Amino acid sequence: MCKLGVLTSGGDAPGMNACIRAIVRYGIKRELEIIGIRRGYAGLLDSDFVKLDNRAVGNIIQRGGTFLGTARCEEMKTKGGVNKAVQNLQQEGIGGLITIGGDGTFRGAMALAKAGNIRVIGIPSTIDNDIYGTDYSIGFDTATNTALNAIDKIRDTAGAMHRAFFVEVMGRTRGFIALDVGIAGGAEQILIPETETNIDKLCQSISSSIRKGKRSTIVIVAEGDEAGGVFPVAQQVWERLRLEYRICVLGHIQRGGSPTARDRVLASKLGSAAVDAFISGRSGEMVGEVNGQIELTPLENTWRKRKKLDKSLIRFMEELAS
Ligand code: F6P
Repeated sequence: MCKLGVLTSGGDAPGMNACIRAIVRYGIKRELEIIGIRRGYAGLLDSDFVKLDNRAVGNIIQRGGTFLGTARCEEMKTKGGVNKAVQNLQQEGIGGLITIGGDGTFRGAMALAKAGNIRVIGIPSTIDNDIYGTDYSIGFDTATNTALNAIDKIRDTAGAMHRAFFVEVMGRTRGFIALDVGIAGGAEQILIPETETNIDKLCQSISSSIRKGKRSTIVIVAEGDEAGGVFPVAQQVWERLRLEYRICVLGHIQRGGSPTARDRVLASKLGSAAVDAFISGRSGEMVGEVNGQIELTPLENTWRKRKKLDKSLIRFMEELAS
């Protein structure tokens, strides 16, 4: 029986558990032995292995986080760390590895494939949705809905007190979360790293919406925006408009919680597709979903190529917010 390892690495994302469950159950049906690796690459370096059977993944499809645990592991970025990881996998008799995470996770996987005779398949799972080769990564849908839920609540108090709110959302260096929650939450403005941030233009738009009789203003700021986050943006607007405002940084709330149906379905599909890819002898690739179809992308492209964000949606959002 072939042993297939599975780990989650980097920032956790809702749906990771559903993905592990799919790998275990789909893999066991195809006569694979599935070995979970706790705490991502940090656990791999400690040979922290656990055999997973169907019961081990019961009652987890609805849970956020990752029951295997995860970590950001600096040692895996070194040659010594990679060699140690290969040695630990070989000692355990693990011939293949499915890694669930973002680009850092895939860089680690690729290093393992190059250093040892380990076949690796990646699955995109990050709330940031910044991975080339898939329309959506596991966790993005839940994170945007969690942020949206918070923004709807902020709108209530903003409207009641005629205030402006500057809300910072996650997304690392990209604006995918900000763009979707901005449109869905009816924001007056969205500031993202992919477009130039112009504070004067932002002030004009806020003043114009107040003149039109709007009782609340919500500005979504992506954490990676060039303005340096929500605090400097709010400060600069205040200096120009002397407008009463409040700031809300949504932070890690966006990473937690029960995954949406969409994330669970995506996680289940990609988990089983990764097992299929492994069985058919593929390696060094990520399974993603593009236009509803499963596609394999070389792991190196997932960080070398830049995923496109539809900037035209910002203009669309501005029209609707008028
Ligand atoms: O990549 C997911 C993410 O939540 C980013 O949106 C954010 O920038 C980062 O991780 C935060 O990382 P940490 O939890 O290590 O502070």
